[in-house]
Amino acid sequence: MKYRTLVSAEQIEARLAEMGAEITADYAGQDLLLIAVLKGAFMTLADLARHIEVPLDMDFMAVSSYGDATKSSGVVRILKDLDTEISGRHVLIVEDIVDSGLTLSYLRRNLEVRGPASLEIATLLLKPGLQKVPLDVKYIGFEIPPDFVIGYGLDYYGQYRNLPYVAVLEEE
Ligand code: IMP
Repeated sequence: MKYRTLVSAEQIEARLAEMGAEITADYAGQDLLLIAVLKGAFMTLADLARHIEVPLDMDFMAVSSYGDATKSSGVVRILKDLDTEISGRHVLIVEDIVDSGLTLSYLRRNLEVRGPASLEIATLLLKPGLQKVPLDVKYIGFEIPPDFVIGYGLDYYGQYRNLPYVAVLEEE
């Protein structure tokens, strides 16, 4: 498969540093719980967390919404739930990408009923205009065109997650 860089490793690093500073200021004096959605968000979580300077804890969820296709199905299944109780906690969901928003919208509703003190969303990438549901995303790294992207945690049939940058897959 051919692909070309869309967001470079340097751009990602610089933007995550800015987002981390913003999050640090917003959550000053509070305990934070970062929740990442596996597998795609693992890299964003690891690199963003290094720029957050409030005491924090991390937990992970795994959901399936895509199967192996490149279009959102809207069907979300929890494959792995949180280990932590989130009642009364300040929760920040860390995502790799918001496309249709169906996954996050489902997750948000699912987590809200557990009674967190606050619940916000941070995403590295967002494809504007594609959201099928209204979604309040507080921290956005980059708005990108509606193409299918890989790298920096994002996969195509399980591959390319290790690329240190975000690239657009080009059909041959
Ligand atoms: P959504 O429900 O359409 O917002 O997308 C949910 C999940 O689909 C994301 O968390 C990604 O794991 C995956 N996804 C969406 N767009 C892309 C893409 O362009 N490349 C790779 N994975 C994607």
